[in-house]
Amino acid sequence: MPIAEPLDPAQARRIAVVRLHVNGQAHAVAAPTHWTLLELLRYQLGLVGSKQGCDKGDCGACTVLVDGLPTLACLTLAVAAEGRHVETVEGLGVGGEPHPLQRLFAERGAAQCGFCTPGMLMSSAHYLDELGRADAPVIRRADIAAALGGNLCRCTGYTKILEAVEAAAQETCSRAQAIGDGPGGAA
Ligand code: FES
Ligand code: FES
Repeated sequence: MPIAEPLDPAQARRIAVVRLHVNGQAHAVAAPTHWTLLELLRYQLGLVGSKQGCDKGDCGACTVLVDGLPTLACLTLAVAAEGRHVETVEGLGVGGEPHPLQRLFAERGAAQCGFCTPGMLMSSAHYLDELGRADAPVIRRADIAAALGGNLCRCTGYTKILEAVEAAAQETCSRAQAIGDGPGGAA
């Protein structure tokens, strides 16, 4: 069996300064170049909502949005987030109010141990963003399941999660319709 080259200590200690926006705030964060975005968020910025589950791309518990797209933070090097806009579960609610997804997860019993919940919420938030941008949005359970296909849950059996996201989607569509129907609306 080949013997691995010993790690160059200078390389191992290499540090980079990563400039990025997290939940709307600009940061310049020093991090070892081998760190992942998940490590930067949790251990440098103290944002521990994104969970370190499998740490190898299987479970989705680390899902954040990078420039609006669901991204596994455990598989993304921190230096690759240079100049990006990152959203984590800590940034979902506004002004101390929970995001509708957070409210509905609580109301519908969609979180049990809660370990998968931050990743589920971020994937769901992206699904709602896409739905809100559609010209003629249609809510399909199969589309929600596909949007959450990379997020594993050991507790809920998924049904209550799908119900909560579906209810949030209905709220999103009703709100968009109310804006369209209102004074000055496009409808
Ligand atoms: S912790 Fe990233 S996919 Fe599991
Ligand atoms: S609520 Fe426990 S893993 Fe999903």
